[in-house]
Amino acid sequence: MINIAIDGYSSCGKSTLAKALARTLGYIYIDTGAMYRAVALYALDHGFIHPDGTIDQEGLINALPSLHIDFKYSNDTGRSDVFLNGVSVESRIRNMQIAELASRISQIRAVRNKLQQLQRGIAHKKGVVMDGRDIGTVIMPDAELKIFMTADPEIRALRRYEELKAAGKETSLEEVRNNQVKRDYEDTHRAEDPLRKASDALVLDNSALSPDEQLKLALDWVKKKSKQVAEV
Ligand code: DC
Repeated sequence: MINIAIDGYSSCGKSTLAKALARTLGYIYIDTGAMYRAVALYALDHGFIHPDGTIDQEGLINALPSLHIDFKYSNDTGRSDVFLNGVSVESRIRNMQIAELASRISQIRAVRNKLQQLQRGIAHKKGVVMDGRDIGTVIMPDAELKIFMTADPEIRALRRYEELKAAGKETSLEEVRNNQVKRDYEDTHRAEDPLRKASDALVLDNSALSPDEQLKLALDWVKKKSKQVAEV
């Protein structure tokens, strides 16, 4: 077994590929973005977002010790759901308000430290697929396979718009596009662990690839990397 780190821009299909890889290989899948989203939801629910939208950083940092995040496998959905203080928050974190807030909250060093400690604890074992923004560079720098995902921004926006529409969430393509541009900028320009391609990551541009084609390509990479590991 190896470890697989997947990083990339928002709405690139990272979690679709990560989930498919984990299912096929029998690996554990950890969606680190969901952890930042859960902290964003906590901040919103506990009054750490000021009426003007800014974050009460001090209040949130002081509350971090009472915030517990974990994953539990759900037989209903066939995936691991993220739990915040014992309650599944999956249905409340998959929207643009939380995505935008998560991107800003992820810039707070103390928040990153807390979540990264959890992520490193999980990555300690082999047979883990983890996706996010700093997995190949910070969390699993020794992962045997690192994938950096990218796709044409217009295609990404359209995919996410269709996804939100199918889930019954009211939005416009324009709004989805603006949210994506802002998040891409913030995630790549922040001071704390910005999104970067690890020097040894393989680039997967999925603008013209179906989910099955991406899975096939990634499984080929897994096979090659596993062989290299076995030969050492
Ligand atoms: O992958 P996502 O869209 O669910 O992530 C939400 C936000 O969380 C993203 O805009 C940046 C932040 N994030 C991060 O800083 N580091 C990670 N490893 C994962 C997500």
